[in-house]
Amino acid sequence: MEITVKSGSPEKQRTACLVVAVFNNKKLSKAAEIINDISDSYISSIIRRGDLEGKLGETLLLQQVPNIVADRVLLVGVGKEKQLNSRQYKRIITAATKFLNTTGANEAVSYLTELPVKGRDSLWNVKQASIYCATENYNFDLLKSKKKDHSRNIKKLTFTIPNRKNLVDAEQAVREAQATVTGMVLAKNLANMPANICNPEYLAKEAIKMSKQMSNVDTKILHKKDLEDLKMGSFLSVAQGAAVEPKLIVFNYCGGPKDQKPVVLVGKGVTFDSGGISLKAGAGMDEMKYDMCGAASVFGVIKACSEMQLSMNVVGIIPATENMPSSKATRPGDVVTSMSGQTIEVLNTDAEGRLILCDALTYAERFEPHSVIDIATLTGACIIALGHQTSAVMSNHNPLVNELKNAGNLSDDPCWELPIGDEYQSQLDSNFADMANIGGRPAGSITAACFLARFTKKYHWAHLDIAGTAWVSGKDKGATGRPVPLLVEYLIHQNQTRQD
Ligand code: BES
Ligand code: MN
Ligand code: ZN
Repeated sequence: MEITVKSGSPEKQRTACLVVAVFNNKKLSKAAEIINDISDSYISSIIRRGDLEGKLGETLLLQQVPNIVADRVLLVGVGKEKQLNSRQYKRIITAATKFLNTTGANEAVSYLTELPVKGRDSLWNVKQASIYCATENYNFDLLKSKKKDHSRNIKKLTFTIPNRKNLVDAEQAVREAQATVTGMVLAKNLANMPANICNPEYLAKEAIKMSKQMSNVDTKILHKKDLEDLKMGSFLSVAQGAAVEPKLIVFNYCGGPKDQKPVVLVGKGVTFDSGGISLKAGAGMDEMKYDMCGAASVFGVIKACSEMQLSMNVVGIIPATENMPSSKATRPGDVVTSMSGQTIEVLNTDAEGRLILCDALTYAERFEPHSVIDIATLTGACIIALGHQTSAVMSNHNPLVNELKNAGNLSDDPCWELPIGDEYQSQLDSNFADMANIGGRPAGSITAACFLARFTKKYHWAHLDIAGTAWVSGKDKGATGRPVPLLVEYLIHQNQTRQD
């Protein structure tokens, strides 16, 4: 979908469809008011008959509105004017997009971006609307023999802003939105792909394919032998039960000066998590193909950086493996040695995410990072703590938490901090190794992060647990593309403020 921005009066727009808002109690928005005046009260007379009340998400398509040059006018109910918040704004944009996809119009000019949204400005409105429209139009039918017919989908959308002088900034906001969408679509496609196709080998091939199409990205694949040479005993212990070999994918996006310290992103890439010998229950196990959503988000962010030509250095590290039971698999009680030299008693083979991440986090040291952020569907406990709305963030550096929380708020992809103080560390005590890989039922997300914290002492580090936010279950089962928006926003902000 093509998206542009402009500033101008609605009655002058030569378009297949004008999109304007109507508030609760039939009150017209500014743009609707202008059309109404010029059309001899065409809109208010229709509304008076009761065909539209202005309730949030309501739609009404008008044809042949007098005295204007647009072919159609789509009225969108937006609820109470004073209470319009970000969530309602999203519902409004989504409802309008859904409806536009059913009309004969393949292009439209929307004034919904001129709505006042609490705490946001018109640039935010434009950026988020661009993302929401594309999100509404996403669908995954690569593996269906009959593809969905997209021919009536809206092809081009123009969003308006109230003030001409913001046009250049709004165009930049659209570019950022489109890069974010590219990243989200890639993340979703990789995540939705089933595990018999999307295995470590597939991810490695996709990484190489992708970096060949992009400038500024250098990609390296480390194979099993390389991981052995690096002494990644913890990562390898997860992979040893699987028939497919593990891969470590390393993206190097060089948009900044050569000597600039990179932000390093580490994504958990368990392409299927059966639990291993500590086998998971059967119900819903198919969803464990999503245990590589952290990895998918790293793919997405690197692609977005390249599309935006972000002038910054970003490294992506993805430990990719299956977690399977077999006669060669790690047993509960086995002790393994991580790349850092620390030994780990594997009390539960289903706590495998931390086992592959710890070695990837040690590997990250060689990039002398500005900061390291790992992204992982790490704990079911995270869903209990924060639900499906908010990702968890845990960190050894307070400013980094604040930056991630801000980026999450701005991008409508929120995260919230959980504590990881030393007082939790003793839950990881082991009688037979330096640490156990599980910390018991209390504070499961926190003890998982505390485990990782033992491998991240040499740099500023944050951990995003996206177990609850990376995909949705049920009838609309599918990947969300989160936390690509949060991370892209964080990097854009870093790029604007960093001078090292
Ligand atoms: N990938 C899972 C976490 C998960 C579970 C994410 C369900 C999303 C939905 C992870 O590898 C795992 O199995 N964690 C265990 C840890 C436990 C054994 C300490 C869990 O959360 O039960
Ligand atoms: Mn697991
Ligand atoms: Zn897992």
